[in-house]
Amino acid sequence: MNDPHLQLAVCDYPEHVPKDRWADYARQQKALGLSYVRIAEFAWARMEPREGQYEWAWLDEAVEASAAAGLKVVLCTPTATPPAWLARRYPEILPVDREGKVRDFGSRRHYDFASPVYREHSRRITHALAERYGQHPGVAGWQTDNEFGCHDTARSWGGASAAAFPGWLEAKYGTLEALNTAWGNAFWSMDYSEWNQIRPPNLLVTEVNPSHLLDFYRFASDTVQSFQSEQVAILRELSPDRFVTHNFMIFESGFDHYEVAKGLDFVSWDNYPTGMLEFFTGWGSEDLKTRYARTGHPDFISFQHDLYRGLLHRPFWVMEQQCGQVNWAPYNPLPADGAVGLWTMQAWAHGADVVSYFRWRAATMAQEVMHSGLLRHDETPDRGHHEIEGFRLEQFPLGAVDSKTVQPKVALLHDYESLWLYDVQKHAASLSYWAQAVTYYAALRGLGQDVDIVHPDADLSGYALIVAPALTLMTPERAEHLEEAAQHAHIVFGPRTAYRTASGRTPEDGQPGVLAGLLGSKLLNFDSLRPGLSVRVQGPDHACEVHTWAESYRALEERHGADVVYRYTDGPQHGRAAVVRHGSVTVIGAHSEELIEHLLAGELRAAGLPVERLPEGVRLSRRAGKTLVQNWNAEPVQYGGQTLGPVSFEVMDD
Ligand code: GAL
Repeated sequence: MNDPHLQLAVCDYPEHVPKDRWADYARQQKALGLSYVRIAEFAWARMEPREGQYEWAWLDEAVEASAAAGLKVVLCTPTATPPAWLARRYPEILPVDREGKVRDFGSRRHYDFASPVYREHSRRITHALAERYGQHPGVAGWQTDNEFGCHDTARSWGGASAAAFPGWLEAKYGTLEALNTAWGNAFWSMDYSEWNQIRPPNLLVTEVNPSHLLDFYRFASDTVQSFQSEQVAILRELSPDRFVTHNFMIFESGFDHYEVAKGLDFVSWDNYPTGMLEFFTGWGSEDLKTRYARTGHPDFISFQHDLYRGLLHRPFWVMEQQCGQVNWAPYNPLPADGAVGLWTMQAWAHGADVVSYFRWRAATMAQEVMHSGLLRHDETPDRGHHEIEGFRLEQFPLGAVDSKTVQPKVALLHDYESLWLYDVQKHAASLSYWAQAVTYYAALRGLGQDVDIVHPDADLSGYALIVAPALTLMTPERAEHLEEAAQHAHIVFGPRTAYRTASGRTPEDGQPGVLAGLLGSKLLNFDSLRPGLSVRVQGPDHACEVHTWAESYRALEERHGADVVYRYTDGPQHGRAAVVRHGSVTVIGAHSEELIEHLLAGELRAAGLPVERLPEGVRLSRRAGKTLVQNWNAEPVQYGGQTLGPVSFEVMDD
């Protein structure tokens, strides 16, 4: 961690290959310039083949082999894969899916975070592992579990979670009267008269009460958090001078990442650029997906980097970096030549201190045989390996690990409760919280900005422009915090701002409730536009078409002096305000990439920030006194007086 430049690592699986390969692999990894190797996140059945019978000899040897080659080992708690003996002897640990079916042993993540029995086994294996390796000189740190929430596993809709949910609610509300009021249970006769009448909100005849769902999501999120914190406490006790991290996942929404990151030394995340673009529905046209099929989309990737850097406001690791084709998306193209380099350096520029490739050798068995690694199945170096051989890492300085070495002046606000509330009642099928957030983010990146993604309640004092694309949940405290921020920064809000209170209801005085004073407007109507249906807006110097979502406002001119900047020129909201500006605060009610880009460019200038409209596929990212100029296009581009080759980057001194 003290090295002055970006370091590289790899995920390896000694338990997948004969042990006569281990020393050889470790030497090759070192020779490739790698510093760390992450192992053992799925190896519980090899560590403890029968309950209470530990077998450490193989892991001792594997750790020794890496250490002997000069690699630092990241060890994992293996709780993402409870072994067969555990699942069969204690079936109460198994999770239940939304349809009420038990999710059985045979792949991974088959456990309920709330299961007291599983908690006990999780603490026991963590303790045993930390006792044995906590002080091992070859072990640099720990990863907890693997990708919490992957395969929709953050929430279990029955079993142990269903049993624990009423107690969590009782602790929160104290009385059923308070819960019934908060949830609005007068509606459809949903009042409860006993705590144990309350279940997770699945298997219902029709729509779910959003307040019920919101609390169930909060409960599940707290349960993930407390599950991890039990492991972290054991690791801190038995391995006090090693780091602890967790590898978060792309666009995972099943728990509050800000809460689950607390208590970690740094955040890691797993970056699969082509897979995530293919997999994600709701952002990016088919044409865009085809255009970026071999690299992934730069903004889609850096959104994650910026989000994960923002969880703790610290440099982070990419714990799993795609280095060839993946196996889990609908289509899995080979990455372009140069993509592994571009992904690696983009990660550095957005705050990664270590990039770790997934995986060393392609698996010759089981679920992931179609997935690539740095070595092919036959152990010959694959395309990613060849790219890494050419890296000049000294070009990528880190700066001090505990300082903010990436220092944007623009903040984009993001929180998981707003996400949950937005997506439970999307009201327009083709829009989602993430899609709306990425649309604003991509506009800022296309205008040459570095962006911090931060929680709305975080310190906002260092920013000149704050953008809140979809801040659905509003509280009086949050409103006050934003009012303070507006004293020194420009703020732009997107649609559905302050639609809900903390309990998931709407404000009694209508939206945006406590934020009306800051926005200088009140919501009149919202309009959901199916594909093909659009409306138009007109501003002082610009008009454009609006798709998917259109909301209108009544500006509070008299009291607050707010100005209508854009109005609808057709449709049911004809003549009404689509964009209102109140001092340094703007609310945009119409969803249109063109409108958003146009308005953000103006707000950036008004906030005193330089604006540069970048060519398609060109992006700039700044870190530690350098600018990484990136070309994500399959063709060369002219930029800044030079030619950038296809899928390539240049490092410039600022
Ligand atoms: C990740 C996971 C890895 C592996 C990889 C394949 O989500 O953590 O274990 O499955 O995907 O791309």
